[in-house]
Amino acid sequence: MTLPDDDRPTKWYNIQADLPEPLPPPKDPEEGPSRVKMLPELLLGECLRQENSTERWIDIPQEVQDLYAQAGRPRPLVRALRLEQKLGTPAHLYYKAEFYSPTGSHKVNTALAQAFYAKKEGYERLTTETGAGQWGTALAYAASLAGLKTTIYWVRAVHDWKSQRRAFMKLYGAEVYASPSNHTETGRELLEKNPNHPGSLGIAVSEGLEDARGDDKAIYCLGSVLNHVLLHQTVIGLETKRQFERFGEYPDVMVSCLGGGSNFGGFTLPFFADAIHGRQIKFIAAQSEAAPNLQGEYRYDFADHAEITPLLKMYTLGHHAEMHPIRGDGLRYHGAAPILSLLRHLGYLDTVAYPADEKHVFERARTFVQTEGFLPAPESAYSIACAMDEAVKCKETGEAKVIAFNISGHGFMDMEGYSDVLHL
Ligand SMILES: Cc1ncc(COP(=O)(O)O)c(C=O)c1O
Repeated sequence: MTLPDDDRPTKWYNIQADLPEPLPPPKDPEEGPSRVKMLPELLLGECLRQENSTERWIDIPQEVQDLYAQAGRPRPLVRALRLEQKLGTPAHLYYKAEFYSPTGSHKVNTALAQAFYAKKEGYERLTTETGAGQWGTALAYAASLAGLKTTIYWVRAVHDWKSQRRAFMKLYGAEVYASPSNHTETGRELLEKNPNHPGSLGIAVSEGLEDARGDDKAIYCLGSVLNHVLLHQTVIGLETKRQFERFGEYPDVMVSCLGGGSNFGGFTLPFFADAIHGRQIKFIAAQSEAAPNLQGEYRYDFADHAEITPLLKMYTLGHHAEMHPIRGDGLRYHGAAPILSLLRHLGYLDTVAYPADEKHVFERARTFVQTEGFLPAPESAYSIACAMDEAVKCKETGEAKVIAFNISGHGFMDMEGYSDVLHL
């Protein structure tokens, strides 16, 4: 099921207008310079405005709507009939196919918006972090279309095995560094202590921020966690809602993987609006035991390793937590988006963390590949595993629940991970 031209979202949905209580604002640590006052230097002007906005609907600029269409939006919502049959479940399984993306994932939804605003605000270069490599590729693509340069700090543990994706980023003209790198003070300090440091998203964020702060023509763009990133991603859930109306169904359960929270938030926030007004929906975030940030503490913490960002109120494992690399490395981040953290704190959101050997998750992905035919990104395999686990529970209880899950990306450049875990 796709959507006709006149039923495409023209505005993003901002849940800040509907949250049961206001989002705790970013805050300064007790010592050091004010990070909150520094925010206008760290973020794009328009993104900072959106970050703090409580307007319910925010216009998607016409240029960005056109770019979305060129990038294949709206993306299909598919009933997984063969998977249902294979599982013998009475549940109705629906997946949102974000893998139909020029670079491979949902990350293009915010990359196109951020590159558009950066160009408008006169910047010439974008800097960023990336974990799985999907966000880095998405930003390199969006920047290339806007005529901007990109510098990407890529978590070393992933950079070193995803050589095809590295080449793909370079094809868009991006400059790519394994993080920690020798290119920044943060990176050099860490490499001095451990020349084989595997890196983390928090470290890569610090490097991207440090780089941009040293160049007036550069601005840092973040691929997850922040309110404006989740806002741009709501195009996923808004389309899904309209597609469900056309199917004549409504989800009882919504599932997606969660690293920093951008695909989970984008998919579910338009439905959370209904849940806040009393509709019964079970939301489940699928995570790894390597980084179960939603099972951490709900408190103020830095978003990056070097403490350049303000403190955000979020579920966190601690910004210096050591987390073992996994194949679905886009899920390895210490904190969850403040919006989703608040919703979890208020009891709206469940979470499950799968074993870090990833065997269960990739076996579930294998069944999905063999029944539905599409190869998910390793991170998206967590959504699939969780949705299938819920469908198996329905088989036991005999309930015909409607289960919706988001497949955030494809895994065409991640076969080494599948081969390794599944011994292919
Ligand atoms: C395909 C894919 N899905 C999910 C994620 C997790 O990020 P987020 O929680 O921001 O959606 C990533 C992160 O790199 C990713 O590449």
